[in-house]
Amino acid sequence: PANLDKAVSSLDWLLGNWESVEPGKGSYPSLKDFRYTEDLHFAQMGQPIINFMFNASDAETKKILHRECGFIRMQTGTNRVAFIIAQNSGLVEVEEGELVGKKLSLHTQALARPSFAKEPHVKEVSRVFQLQPDGKLEQTLSMSTDKQPMTQHLHVTYSRLP
Ligand code: HEM
Repeated sequence: PANLDKAVSSLDWLLGNWESVEPGKGSYPSLKDFRYTEDLHFAQMGQPIINFMFNASDAETKKILHRECGFIRMQTGTNRVAFIIAQNSGLVEVEEGELVGKKLSLHTQALARPSFAKEPHVKEVSRVFQLQPDGKLEQTLSMSTDKQPMTQHLHVTYSRLP
């Protein structure tokens, strides 16, 4: 959009609403594989910041499983990106990384949770958002907990909603 602030204009390809094309795949050594649907919303609200909200539900029962929302900022004049994130699990994160072309790679920079958060505790998150040549958006997410080393938890592809 014309009003997109220069500071985040290199992320304009994310803006708008997305929905998983087919159910995403969830996995982890400690979990049974699962399938989920997810919608993503990225909007610019007149600041050099992108606001986002992700909602994920069980593909069969439609029960809400995971939600996160936050803000995306870029370091002026660089390709450094920060996601400032709050998750329904209680996890609060700053993820940082780089934008190269239409590929955004992020890794936990800081992390906090309520004193009574459920275990296991997440230690690190790594994720990649990549725009595919066909216009679909792919997200792959790995994490480590105090029980497991860095392992993939999620893989999902989204298409743009009109
Ligand atoms: C379980 C973290 C996103 C679905 C878990 C567990 C952790 C975790 C730590 C427990 C693993 C264990 O017991 O060893 C995260 C983080 C996420 C994320 C950090 C994003 C940054 C999602 C999303 C979904 C999802 C988008 C989509 C539906 C589940 C399910 C379980 C699970 C179904 C197993 C049941 C449960 O313990 O609630 N996740 N998760 N997660 N996650 Fe995620």
